[in-house]
Amino acid sequence: MSRKANVLAIPAIGKLDRKIGQLSQQLAQALRNAIHKGELKAGDMLPSTRSLAASLELARGTVLEAFEQLVAEGFLESKRGSGTCVIFSPQTIPSPKVEPTGDIFLTESAQKFARVAERIKTLSPRPFAVSVPVGDTAPDDIWRKIGNRIRARGPGAPSGYGEPQGVRPLREAICEYVRKSRSVHCTPEQIIITSGTQQGLYLATQILLDSGDTAWVEDPGYPGMTDIFETAARDRKMVRIPVDAEGLDVEAGKVIAPQARAAFVTPSHQYPLGMPLSMSRRAALIDWAKTNHAWVIEDDYDSEMRYAGQPFPALQGMGPNNVIYLGTFSKILFPSLRLGYVIAPEPLINAFNGARILMDRHPPSADQYVLAKFMSEGHLNRHLRKMRSVYAEKRRVLMEAVTALISPDLATLQPTDQGMHMVLWLPGFDDREVVRKGIEAGISLRAVSHMFSAGNSESGVLLGLGGFTDEEIYAAVGKLGQLLAAMSRDLLL
Ligand SMILES: Cc1ncc(COP(=O)(O)O)c(C=O)c1O
Repeated sequence: MSRKANVLAIPAIGKLDRKIGQLSQQLAQALRNAIHKGELKAGDMLPSTRSLAASLELARGTVLEAFEQLVAEGFLESKRGSGTCVIFSPQTIPSPKVEPTGDIFLTESAQKFARVAERIKTLSPRPFAVSVPVGDTAPDDIWRKIGNRIRARGPGAPSGYGEPQGVRPLREAICEYVRKSRSVHCTPEQIIITSGTQQGLYLATQILLDSGDTAWVEDPGYPGMTDIFETAARDRKMVRIPVDAEGLDVEAGKVIAPQARAAFVTPSHQYPLGMPLSMSRRAALIDWAKTNHAWVIEDDYDSEMRYAGQPFPALQGMGPNNVIYLGTFSKILFPSLRLGYVIAPEPLINAFNGARILMDRHPPSADQYVLAKFMSEGHLNRHLRKMRSVYAEKRRVLMEAVTALISPDLATLQPTDQGMHMVLWLPGFDDREVVRKGIEAGISLRAVSHMFSAGNSESGVLLGLGGFTDEEIYAAVGKLGQLLAAMSRDLLL
């Protein structure tokens, strides 16, 4: 009578792929997986090499080789006379919280970063996405001409590594620009070119805060900022400080976290609400920073776009030794450029340079030279003048369309006289549901509720101003009005 081997119940082993070969490695991996998944636990006896080889139709030497490998890796132990036993379970050592996704195990950090990608999705360039360059103001032709010129001869051509601080002509052009247009006090030596304000915020949390330090962050505030603290700041903590009609409530900050090492603020145009930080609050914030040797990180993302009078001067001018100024070209030129800048007191510059080297060395040099020429030849200032009047008109059309097409019982626009977006408050609605339905209806929206700290949220959506014709704005506002009316009927049922 032929003796038939027992078929073993180790599901993770499954079928080995004979076409690929390396059968002992495949078997070892299958056993590792079974141990990680808990199908084999510490203390379990494995079948003999002979019976496992028979059931898997392998040479016994192949199984022996796999066992030896796993013994060497500390998964198995072989005892003469009593067989081979599993000695490792994932629980037998303190392991980080991991989440199985098929055969891949995600660390807690990986899960947090993945959640950011879920939360911050790039919106399609249709109403009301923010920062879509307006067709009539996009500087396409001049940008292309300067780019061709610079790339063809000279500095924009392929070259070696550049300075982490960024190319000198661009730092000079930015210095000139911010001194005149933003009342910022600086020299080109204090400027570090970044790949946008997002990177400046990330660098600031790495450089300005030590382990255990606390920073003030506005409530509500920019998710690109709060998500850094929630995801990547390790043991640096944020405390949320309320914002009222004058911007960040500095007195509240002093009560909630008087010893904070830094305050992250949007003084020209609070994100997302839109008001500027009042003069008295500015003075109080700088005073607190000086007294506590704290840093103020000024995110000046769209301050150039003020429609009623001149833009507010930057906070940096009131306390150049305490303020780290972050500027970006995403709003005034176009976000795909990925260029911005940090302006910091000189003693910090080397720290920023070091962090840049470790992160990405520097942004592409060629685009930095193109931008430097664009600025030094006066195109940026001309472009800004044109943009301001186009955006003022877009803002007027948007307000007019909302008034005409959305019932005031359903929604209210937050008043603001600057910036490239407005908040539409939606009391009683779940704004995430509005965003979902809006996207289905072809409208790009962002919910405001998750920009607040837990328990303080209010419902609303961001409406971006740029990039769209008057007809597109009217059509999208009309759709949004219908959608809100339908949702409110469903809520009443
Ligand atoms: C308040 C605020 N800060 C920073 C940024 C990031 O800008 P950048 O594109 O320069 O990274 C944005 C972009 O929308 C923003 O709204």
